[in-house]
Amino acid sequence: MKLKWESVSTLHQNVFLIKLVSAILITGLTFRFFIFRFGQISPVQVSVTGNPDSMISPPSVILSDNEDLLPVDIVVEKCDLFTGKWIKDPLGPLYTNGSCGIFVDAHQDCITNGRPDSGFLYWKWKPNDCSLPRFDPHRFLQLMRNKSWAFIGDSIARNHVESLLCMLSTVEKPVEVYHDENYRSKRWRFPSHNLTISNIWSPFLVHADIFEDSNGVSSGAVQLHLDRLDKTWTDLFPSLDYAIISSGEWFLKTAVYHENANPVGCHGCLASANMTDLGFDYAYNTSLRHVLDFVARSDTKGMSFFRTSIPDHFENGEWDSGGNCKRTDPVSDGEMEMKNLNKILRDVEISQFERVVMEMGQEESGNLKLLDFAGMLLTRPDGHPGPYREFRPFDKGKNAKVQNDCLHWCLPGPIDYLNDVILEIVVNG
Ligand SMILES: *[C@@H]1O[C@H](CO)[C@@H](O)[C@H](O)[C@H]1NC(C)=O
Ligand SMILES: *[C@@H]1O[C@H](CO)[C@@H](O)[C@H](O)[C@H]1NC(C)=O
Ligand SMILES: *[C@@H]1O[C@H](CO)[C@@H](O)[C@H](O)[C@H]1NC(C)=O
Ligand SMILES: *[C@@H]1O[C@H](CO)[C@@H](O)[C@H](O)[C@H]1NC(C)=O
Ligand SMILES: *[C@@H]1O[C@H](CO)[C@@H](O)[C@H](O)[C@H]1NC(C)=O
Repeated sequence: MKLKWESVSTLHQNVFLIKLVSAILITGLTFRFFIFRFGQISPVQVSVTGNPDSMISPPSVILSDNEDLLPVDIVVEKCDLFTGKWIKDPLGPLYTNGSCGIFVDAHQDCITNGRPDSGFLYWKWKPNDCSLPRFDPHRFLQLMRNKSWAFIGDSIARNHVESLLCMLSTVEKPVEVYHDENYRSKRWRFPSHNLTISNIWSPFLVHADIFEDSNGVSSGAVQLHLDRLDKTWTDLFPSLDYAIISSGEWFLKTAVYHENANPVGCHGCLASANMTDLGFDYAYNTSLRHVLDFVARSDTKGMSFFRTSIPDHFENGEWDSGGNCKRTDPVSDGEMEMKNLNKILRDVEISQFERVVMEMGQEESGNLKLLDFAGMLLTRPDGHPGPYREFRPFDKGKNAKVQNDCLHWCLPGPIDYLNDVILEIVVNG
C-alpha cells in the first residue's frame, strides 16, 4: 500500500491520535483477516481524495505488522476497493431485463428466463475503508469521449462487457459496428460520445487451435502455443485506451502444449500420446508470463487491467455432474471456500502479475493494474443463472433435467458492480 507522510500540526495532533488508535484496532484486524484468507496479494489501491463520498468516511490509518513501529503521522490516502462486503441496496440495478434484453446473452437473461426470486438484485458492494459511488453512466460516457475500450478473454469477459453495455445504454444506446464470422468478437460504438467498446474472444490469450463445435463438443485436443500470443487481441492492443485482459477456466481443458513451435507436453491427454503431462498450471503460468510481458512492455499510453479469474459456485457436484447453485442471498465472508482449481489459477495470476511489476518497477508498470474480484464475487453464489440459463426450464415439469450454470452471472446481477469499481479506479486511480 502507498503511504503518504504528512506533517501534522500540533493543534490537530490529539484528535488525530485518538483516530489513529481506534482505526488501528479496526483496520488492523480486517487487514490480518484479509491476508489470512487470500494470501499475499497486491490489489489495486485507489485514492479516495476527490471522491465526494469520502467526506462521510473518516480517513483510516494503516497498519504495519508491527504496530509499535508505526509512525504517528502516516495517513492513508488509498482505499482497497476489493475488500469489503455486500450490503442491502433498495435502489437495485440500473437496468432491467426489459430495458436491456437485446445486449444480454439469452443464457444470462435470468429474469426473462423465469428466475422467480429477485432478492439477489438488491445488494451493493461496499469497500471497508471508503464508500463506492454508484456507477454513473453519464459520467462514464463523458469521461470516455473519443476513447476505446476492449474486454479480452473468454465468456466471462463477454458477460462483463454486456453488463457495461446495459448500464451505459440507460443513457445512450450503443450501435454494433463489427462482429467476426462466429459472432464471438464484437464492437459497439456510442455515436454521440464517440466511444468504442470491443469484446475480443481470446479464451487462452495465446494462439490456440480449437476443435470444438458451437455446443462445446470437442473432436480433438486443443493445440496450445504457450509462447505465441493470439493476434486477435495483440493487433488491436496498441490502439486501445483501456484494456481488460482475463483468462482462466479454458486452461483446464485437455490440450497439447507447444513451445518454440514444438510439442513439449500435454494436459489430460491419453497415455497413447506418449507425452509428459505438464499440468494446466504450467501452461497457464507460461502463457501469462508472455501475456503480461507483452502488456507491460508495450509502449501504449493506454491503461491495462489484468483481471484475475472468477470462482464458480457449483455445489453438490460439478458442471457436468449435476452441480447446482440454489442460493438466493450472498454469503458472509469465510462461509464459502474457494475451490482448489480456482485457487491454483488465481495463485498463478497473482504471482505472474507480481513478477512483472517487480521486474518493471512500480513506475514503469504503472499503466498495468490488477483487478482482483475473486473475494468480492466468492460471496455471491446467488448471482448465477443456475437452471435459468434456459427459457422457462421447468415448463416441461418440476423435475425436468436441466443443465445448471453456476459460473456466468445473471444480468442484471453482481457482475454489474465490477463497473462501479473500475470507474472509481479510472476516475481516482
Ligand atoms: C422480463 O421478465 C419478465 C418476467 O419473466 C417477463 O414477463 C418479461 O417479458 C421480460 N421482458 C423482456 C423484454 O423480455
Ligand atoms: C473519435 O475518436 C477518435 C479517437 O480519439 C478520433 O480520432 C476521431 O476524430 C473522433 N471522431 C469524432 C467524430 O469526434
Ligand atoms: C474528441 O475528438 C474530436 C474530434 O477529433 C475533438 O474535436 C474533441 O475535442 C475531442 N473531445 C475530447 C473530450 O477529447
Ligand atoms: C514413447 O517415448 C519413449 C521416449 O521418447 C520412446 O522410447 C517410446 O518408444 C515411445 N513409445 C511409443 C508408443 O511411441
Ligand atoms: C511460474 O513461473 C515462474 C517464473 O516466471 C516461476 O518462478 C514459478 O515457480 C512458476 N509457478 C508455477 C506454479 O509453475
